[in-house]
Amino acid sequence: MNQDELKRQVGQTAVEYVEEDSILGVGTGSTVNAFIDALAASGKKLEAAVSSSLATTERLQAIGVRVIDLNQTGGLDLYVDGADEFDHHRRLIKGGGGALTREKIVAQASRRFVCIADESKQVGVLGAFPLPVEVIPMARSLVARKLVGMGGQPEWREGFTTDNGNDILDVHNMDLVDPVATEQAINNLPGVVTCGIFGIRPADVVVYASQQGIKTA
Ligand code: 5RP
Repeated sequence: MNQDELKRQVGQTAVEYVEEDSILGVGTGSTVNAFIDALAASGKKLEAAVSSSLATTERLQAIGVRVIDLNQTGGLDLYVDGADEFDHHRRLIKGGGGALTREKIVAQASRRFVCIADESKQVGVLGAFPLPVEVIPMARSLVARKLVGMGGQPEWREGFTTDNGNDILDVHNMDLVDPVATEQAINNLPGVVTCGIFGIRPADVVVYASQQGIKTA
């Protein structure tokens, strides 16, 4: 099975977690796109969705889902999103698609966070995937120097602007043995909007597709 097929399978499985007529939080990326396709095919109707990116908003609206602002609703029951890496504590690296800040906000607002992935995203220790950090543009060089001081090698994702109008630094070789401490330390740097470590608020379950079938972590 190729990766697209694994994404299709896990997208379909995730639809089972969705309650009819609920307000759903929806993440960003190709795995989430497979989930949105499966949701459309299932015929399940939502009251509305809260989206983590302009790209996801467009996809949801294209299948007839009403997208509302997070401020228009209380907490969400369920958030479905992908990840770039997950470990056995269900801590994640996210932000490969650059939507990490809105994703972290929607995850925080949700009682249950179901992360969907394929087995290629599973790691023993987070950090092989370069860690995305969203920064206010004027602070990009300052934050980059601080990240070098923390042992990382930041690379500016040149030509990319987040939905919030900010820049992304992709940090290579960051030591993430203690992801929560590193998440807090990076988020404390002036100019950082947030980093792509989801350790303080990990996923509640990771549902991932493997060559042996659907598994959970
Ligand atoms: C976007 C994300 C995505 O969830 C992550 O990049 C995984 O994407 P894909 O499902 O395309 O592999 O964090 O900001």
